[in-house]
Amino acid sequence: MTVLVTGATGNVGRAVVELLVGQGVSVRAVSRNPRSLPGEVDVRSADLTDPASLGDVLAGVEKVYLYTLRSGVDSFLAAARAAGVRQVVLLSALAAGDDDPDNAIAQMHLRVERAVASSGISWTFLRPGPFAANTLHWATSIKDSGGVRIPYAQAQNASIHELDIAEVSVAALLEDGHAGATYVLTGPESLTQERHVSLISEAIGKSLWVEDLTGDDARAALTEAFRSPELVDTRIRYYEQTLSRPDFVSDTTEKVLGRPGRTFAQWAQDHRADFR
Ligand SMILES: NC(=O)c1ccc[n+]([C@@H]2O[C@H](COP(=O)([O-])OP(=O)(O)OC[C@H]3O[C@@H](n4cnc5c(N)ncnc54)[C@H](OP(=O)(O)O)[C@@H]3O)[C@@H](O)[C@H]2O)c1
Repeated sequence: MTVLVTGATGNVGRAVVELLVGQGVSVRAVSRNPRSLPGEVDVRSADLTDPASLGDVLAGVEKVYLYTLRSGVDSFLAAARAAGVRQVVLLSALAAGDDDPDNAIAQMHLRVERAVASSGISWTFLRPGPFAANTLHWATSIKDSGGVRIPYAQAQNASIHELDIAEVSVAALLEDGHAGATYVLTGPESLTQERHVSLISEAIGKSLWVEDLTGDDARAALTEAFRSPELVDTRIRYYEQTLSRPDFVSDTTEKVLGRPGRTFAQWAQDHRADFR
């Protein structure tokens, strides 16, 4: 059986590749610019949004780990179906459960989920909440200045380790019983953004400052990071909701994997080199 891994150079896709290779599965990895991927992997260069670039990328593929394409998913799914793909495990997002017309991220993921669901291919949807890896955006500031300015530092999130998403992806790809399932995935605990910084501080053994940005300062920083006003508004709404209450925590990772999800303290240990 060959599994095609899209987004193979991404946070989750890279871990999916490594886990599948570790289990002896034949893996084909696709990227627009293949970089360092394990030697056992059949690496192909293609842009999934451009059907002409697919070539024989799907030939002989039975299962696909698919990240959410901004465009071109219909032609990719048609090509996958024609090639005989039997199952797609889609990396969607928690936001897809909130059919809010003003939430551009939710709408993008829902559009792709609906395309997969109507493709005629068996599917599993993974809807993770915020990735722990989002905190890598702080790495340059932490390394250069010993701290970080954070919009809504007291807002909480139950960030998830990319390895947990990858392990659930691999379970869905290799085990029976996951077809038609939608798995909402979060980390095991809701923490403020400031607490995330203090756990990075503990992991690297160095105290770090945090400047909590609110109001216009927070909006300006988010606009610089995201550029799109809709994304900034969506993000501010999310932060404001979790200033006064914990973020939602799901136990699905534990149910699927039979062990609790990795903590952010563990993630910070795993990534301490990124912050030194
Ligand atoms: N960050 C979060 O908090 C969060 C939360 C929930 C869901 N998500 C979802 O998770 C996904 C991102 O996952 P990630 O962090 O693992 O990925 P990532 O690190 O952002 O990397 C994206 C991957 O997609 C590949 N890619 C992008 N466009 C491509 C194209 N047209 N053709 C082929 N490959 C393409 C890139 O490969 P190359 O550059 O090598 O081509 C890269 O491997 C997004 O869909 C996001 O919405 C994120």
